[in-house]
Amino acid sequence: MRTQVAIVGGGPAGLMLGRLLERRGIESVILEARDREYVQQRVRAGVLEQATMDLMDEVGLGGRMHREGLVHEGVELRFDGEGHRIALSDLTGGRAITIYGQQEVVKDLIEARLESGPPLHFDVGDVVVDPETGVVTYTHAGERQRLEADLIAGCDGFHGVCRPTIQDVLTVYERVYPFGWMGILAECAPSSEELIYAHHERGFALASMRSHEVTRMYLQCAPDAEPWPDEQIWDELDTRFGMGVNRGPIFEKGVTPMRSFVVEPMQHGRLYLAGDAAHIVPPTGAKGLNTAMADVALLASSIGDEAALQAYTRRALERVWRVQHFSWWMTSMLHRMSDDPFETRIQRSQLRYTVTSTAQATALAENYVGLPFITA
Ligand code: FAD
Ligand code: DHB
Repeated sequence: MRTQVAIVGGGPAGLMLGRLLERRGIESVILEARDREYVQQRVRAGVLEQATMDLMDEVGLGGRMHREGLVHEGVELRFDGEGHRIALSDLTGGRAITIYGQQEVVKDLIEARLESGPPLHFDVGDVVVDPETGVVTYTHAGERQRLEADLIAGCDGFHGVCRPTIQDVLTVYERVYPFGWMGILAECAPSSEELIYAHHERGFALASMRSHEVTRMYLQCAPDAEPWPDEQIWDELDTRFGMGVNRGPIFEKGVTPMRSFVVEPMQHGRLYLAGDAAHIVPPTGAKGLNTAMADVALLASSIGDEAALQAYTRRALERVWRVQHFSWWMTSMLHRMSDDPFETRIQRSQLRYTVTSTAQATALAENYVGLPFITA
């Protein structure tokens, strides 16, 4: 079999790349290791930047996002028992974020792909990519398959096979944090209309949502913690937010470790990495999904233009490192980083400065709503 672009991974990056290419009349085949049900149920990100929303509109898939998503024009930073609103839209000339679950984005992209035709294969196994020839081999429905492509897009996430294939030519930049996030989804109304990022001596907490009826909350915890009993989670949330949060049945619980990770370059031979395959951020800035989208917007617009493809790594990394800094900064400012009282005082000073200085609040706001996507 032949195609122009072989896309390994049917997460947000791979699916959006496929959609962008389809609209440019470029053929692709998407290979996804898991089944459709699993990919659509995987609970992860919830915050879409303005540019991600614009991209969903551009590819003709913004309808449900606009109907069901919740547009937010501010977020709250809470510390020393007080909340402070950062007016995102006022500080950024009207830009905003939308709360719309990553799995909803994935559902919209999968449905569109299956409707309009280009191949998307689930349940593929033993994917092997050859960056020199562009050949991808894999097992599907019990048969070994061979796909020849002009270009391979490695969109297979942090644990995929594409990045390891070229590890000898990559430099890794990495920071592992000594904590994780325990995330829950619960059937109850959010406790606040806007997201709350709380700094507390017992650790960070985040109040988010998926709808007016579903709450999403996160707590800083040990990186290898087992999910706590429900009562303990609610009590700890009350303590860290300094208020009684709404409670309801918890129907999803999980612990995510935190790391910053970038490989350079993002391309070798015919293989181009995009999204979590090339970089990871700690989730505090809500940037992972959005950065994956930024990568594929650039890659899709570069395909077919040799000079633009050659510039892909350099141009993608400029934005990637901006996002890395922002995510590291938000993480360092808001979490309990150590027992060192000097560090705690520096954090409080940073928080106080952020909520009292328009310049600093604007820096947070413009990074949080997201910098524009770059195209070739
Ligand atoms: P993935 O979503 O990991 O997709 C990769 C796909 O490749 C998967 O479907 C996988 O099954 C498939 N695959 C893997 N190996 C193979 C193989 N060998 N062959 C074929 N297919 C393969 N980001 C935000 O922007 N905002 C947020 O609010 C946010 N919150 C988060 C909260 C949590 C708890 C977590 C865990 C993450 C969060 N993120 C957030 C990060 C975001 O979810 C990721 O950055 C995003 O999923 C990256 O998309 P991707 O397509 O690059 O990778
Ligand atoms: C959510 C996740 C994040 O990482 C974040 O910073 C804000 C919100 C969420 O899942 O809703």
